[in-house]
Amino acid sequence: MSTGALNGRRILLIVGGGIAAYKALELVRLIRKAGGEVRAILTAGGAAFVTPLSLAALTGHPVREGLFAPDDETAMGHIELSRWADLVVVAPATAGLIAKAANGMADDLASTTLLATDKPVLMAPAMNVRMWLHPAVAANVARLDGFDGGTGFHWVGPDEGEMACGEFGPGRMAQPAAILDAAETLLSGAADQPLRGRRALVTAGPTFEAVDPVRGLTNRSSGKQGYAIAGALAALGAEVTLVSGPVALTAPPGVTRVAVESALQMQAAVQAALPADIAVLTAAVADWRVDAVASGKIKKAPDGPPTLRLIENPDILAGLSAAGPDRPALVVGFAAETENLIENARAKLSRKGCDWIVANDVSDDVFGAEGNAVTLIERSGGEEAWPRQSKAAVARALAVRIADHFKAPA
Ligand code: C5P
Repeated sequence: MSTGALNGRRILLIVGGGIAAYKALELVRLIRKAGGEVRAILTAGGAAFVTPLSLAALTGHPVREGLFAPDDETAMGHIELSRWADLVVVAPATAGLIAKAANGMADDLASTTLLATDKPVLMAPAMNVRMWLHPAVAANVARLDGFDGGTGFHWVGPDEGEMACGEFGPGRMAQPAAILDAAETLLSGAADQPLRGRRALVTAGPTFEAVDPVRGLTNRSSGKQGYAIAGALAALGAEVTLVSGPVALTAPPGVTRVAVESALQMQAAVQAALPADIAVLTAAVADWRVDAVASGKIKKAPDGPPTLRLIENPDILAGLSAAGPDRPALVVGFAAETENLIENARAKLSRKGCDWIVANDVSDDVFGAEGNAVTLIERSGGEEAWPRQSKAAVARALAVRIADHFKAPA
């Protein structure tokens, strides 16, 4: 983990009421280890899950709980506290806290602080999957996204997985390390934006090729690496369009997402996102689609299963690399390989006509995992093997290399 990356940075942590509150304690430890300072606000709900004493011991400061506590207000009032911070982190961000923030409600210390702050707010939602998928919560999230005026609300997670309540789906709070990464990205982005004024296009996730109205062909791409790259480019100031296949991820801060299903839709969305200076195509595009999609659900028949005729999908990366005047100045592809990593990736780079290729060895478990070990290969010959690191760290390193590329004299 990046020790020192938050040196001297001040983080106001709001701990809401949810079972994930215990992970906020680990988050405090990680922020302090990275050199950051933390002060905590504990909501009444949060206090049902973690004690003020644990938070005070870990932050090294008294914990703020009430809006009208005279001692607290003389030490550092809620307005002062919200100004003191460089970043406000809400973890866990419950449906209730999100709703209050989206509607400007200010009936306790946490919601009042969220309304009073002029600093970026990083939300780490955690709630039951049905709650997260409820249109009311989605509308509140969209409303908060709409408030993004330079500082605004940013999101990390929720993750998909088994929940404390026994259900499965998106709703689990992001891991503390991922929240720390997002906090670092937000804070570093504010300080240094070498890609300001550049347009970037990123593809991510799998494609879904319909067979009939209820079935389809797809793959196991989680979209995590591509989403992290879109977020890292945006943090460096780029104006980012993320063309995404179906995944269970929220769009990173400051990124415009275009949701697609099939390879053909992805190709059209990529075309529509041009012109761009930078294109990073990480999507796992299905190689084939079904020739004729059935208009009704294909029935089991006595004469056996149907035969699906597959036809080739367009290669979006090769097409974009060959594009005429609209070709982005820097086109980066990804190569997932299980053997002869470098050799195969180099061959892919020249076959597809892109400028760089990021090669990753997927013989180990990479899909959906947090970590990634990649080699950056340049058409001009350069080759850099990066040590195994989190997907967020790979994304930041790539964004920095891209920024350096545009800084260097042509
Ligand atoms: O050929 P392969 O799928 O391994 O190539 C991987 C790279 O090509 C990735 O950057 C991927 O996004 C891109 N690609 C594409 N369109 C396809 C297939 C792959 O853009 N149909």
